[in-house]
Amino acid sequence: MDRMTAEIVSYYAERYDEAGRLDRRPQARLERIRTLELLEELLPPAPAAILDVGGGPGAYARPLAAAGYRVRLVDVVPAHVEQARAGDPPVDAVVGDARDLPEPDGGYDATLLLGPLYHLLDRQERVRALREAVRVTRPGGRVLAAAISRFAGPLDMATKAELTDRVLDEAAKLITSGENDPSIGFTHAYFHRVPELVSECREAGLAEVTVHGVEGPLWTAAEAAAGGPDADAIFEGALKLARLYSAEPELIPMSAHLLVAGSAPQSRSSLVDDL
Ligand SMILES: C[S@@+](CC[C@H](N)C(=O)[O-])C[C@H]1O[C@@H](n2cnc3c(N)ncnc32)[C@H](O)[C@@H]1O
Repeated sequence: MDRMTAEIVSYYAERYDEAGRLDRRPQARLERIRTLELLEELLPPAPAAILDVGGGPGAYARPLAAAGYRVRLVDVVPAHVEQARAGDPPVDAVVGDARDLPEPDGGYDATLLLGPLYHLLDRQERVRALREAVRVTRPGGRVLAAAISRFAGPLDMATKAELTDRVLDEAAKLITSGENDPSIGFTHAYFHRVPELVSECREAGLAEVTVHGVEGPLWTAAEAAAGGPDADAIFEGALKLARLYSAEPELIPMSAHLLVAGSAPQSRSSLVDDL
């Protein structure tokens, strides 16, 4: 196991409860609602075969299985695989790395990569994970991948009234480096600009690439309003604007998460042509 993988496994096994993440705060509730809506819009209909890479404890694999999809989940953290298998309905889940998937070529109608990209600091490693997603997806099938926006961390810290001078210094470095400083929060991670996410997808061979902002431009307002008298109304407004502005280029990077969708090439030779 390489150093980054060891850090990811220990982060999720010892320091972070991923299973409860999407219920915890307005940003996460917006993330779950909008991701489910975008999956419904962008995936082929059930009973398509879906590979959920970096699927964690099964936040999306489980509802997709319940909706009639044939789902297999791959995750590098053994504890997540156990949680995915244990829930209701149980998810077919195996331990594996996004960069070297234990799956045959073209076996799936669509592949999800909702997590590994921001855990890979090196561009070539991210492209490798995307290429693997393309490889296991049938020609013309869908690949959907999530990334964290370059600006999400500092926006989050300011919303929590934690934008200290040190955080602001790190925010300035982040603008060019894209690398999150784990002493401020989360773990070692890479935060994308939209154009580079699109470029990594194209380099991996994806065609017809489109990007959505997941939580919309008002997730910080929903966070700041939490617990106050207008919390529900502001959350509903943020959700409506997340839907309305989902694909508006100027507003996409204001979301905490970016969701990119593309099509696997029709043949191996067209993939080679694209390189
Ligand atoms: C924040 S969680 C997201 C889980 C779920 N997909 C979601 O969107 O809620 C990121 C997940 O990616 C997994 N992961 C990170 N790097 C990976 C890799 N190289 N291969 C497979 N899984 C990986 C982590 O173990 C974790 O379960």
